[in-house]
Amino acid sequence: MPLSALSKSLRLPVIAAPMFIVSNPELVIAQVRSGIVGSFPALNARPASQLDEWLHRITEETRGCAAPFAVNLIVHRTNTRLEEDLAMLEKWKVPLVITSLGANVQVNAAVHGWGGMVLHDVIDDMFARKAVEKGADGLIAVAAGAGGHAGPQSPFALMQEIRSWFDGPVALSGAIANGRSILAAQAMGADFAYIGTPWIATTEANADQGYKQAIVDGHAADIVNSSLFTGVHGNYLRPSIVAAGMDPDNLPHGDKSQMDFGSGGNTAAKAWKDIWGSGQGIGAIRAVETVAERVERLAAQYQSAKDELRIRAGIA
Ligand SMILES: Cc1cc2nc3c(=O)[nH]c(=O)nc-3n(C[C@H](O)[C@H](O)[C@H](O)COP(=O)(O)O)c2cc1C
Repeated sequence: MPLSALSKSLRLPVIAAPMFIVSNPELVIAQVRSGIVGSFPALNARPASQLDEWLHRITEETRGCAAPFAVNLIVHRTNTRLEEDLAMLEKWKVPLVITSLGANVQVNAAVHGWGGMVLHDVIDDMFARKAVEKGADGLIAVAAGAGGHAGPQSPFALMQEIRSWFDGPVALSGAIANGRSILAAQAMGADFAYIGTPWIATTEANADQGYKQAIVDGHAADIVNSSLFTGVHGNYLRPSIVAAGMDPDNLPHGDKSQMDFGSGGNTAAKAWKDIWGSGQGIGAIRAVETVAERVERLAAQYQSAKDELRIRAGIA
């Protein structure tokens, strides 16, 4: 199915974003069964041989669902598993691949070879142009306030620039956590809302109870942007930095030369396990619930936001 037609087959125009450690098969299966695109980073299946089992299980348990699933590949020189993981995605003919940290012609060609499609995540218009030049089918615009390695730009700036030249599929991300914001993403020109953090506070997510509760209790003011933990700027929950014995207001800068996104092990895993990643949208998350309940809630909010907009715009 072409990506442009995909949004119409979904319960909501939502792609659940891949999250290091957090996204496991239970989460992905529940997302797809609830009618949205589910996803996980290939590196979450460890050791690499586990990726085969995960893809088998997800493929079986989502058979017949209207929504597809996606796998995230970190296309960075430190990812020593890239080739092996790509071969496994080919074996299972994964329908949608989300690439981050490097657009790559060979990877895109390989995915197209088995009939899959590639969405590449970008934080500015220059990277967006490069990604499309290198053969990505669509873009994920990661704006300020997003969980993980968020970009610094306003979603308005990003969408305005990208939509001035690109009419292919675009997913917008950054602190989208209720139905009204999904509709707002569409109004800004996005085909999909790309949502990460709200899935952490679900029963299916692979996260500590304390992490889930911190999302429920927190607000945007509790998010700290720092380069300390991975070498590039990311957004984290203040209470987890305090619990690790650090002062969130006086964090040293990270060392870019120590960046390691590829092994998914050691420093990265430790950083993400103890220092909890989160976007700024958590003020809208007030309970830990199942994925199905969260999707229902988002759908109801989305519908009432549409009704409200019709009234405001004077459309009968
Ligand atoms: C805990 C956490 C881990 C993440 N890990 C990854 C990852 O492994 N690969 C990736 O492409 N993006 C990762 N992201 C970014 C998300 O895919 C997505 O861009 C982001 O969560 C969207 O913003 P939101 O959290 O405000 O919805 C992560 C985000 C969080 C919160």
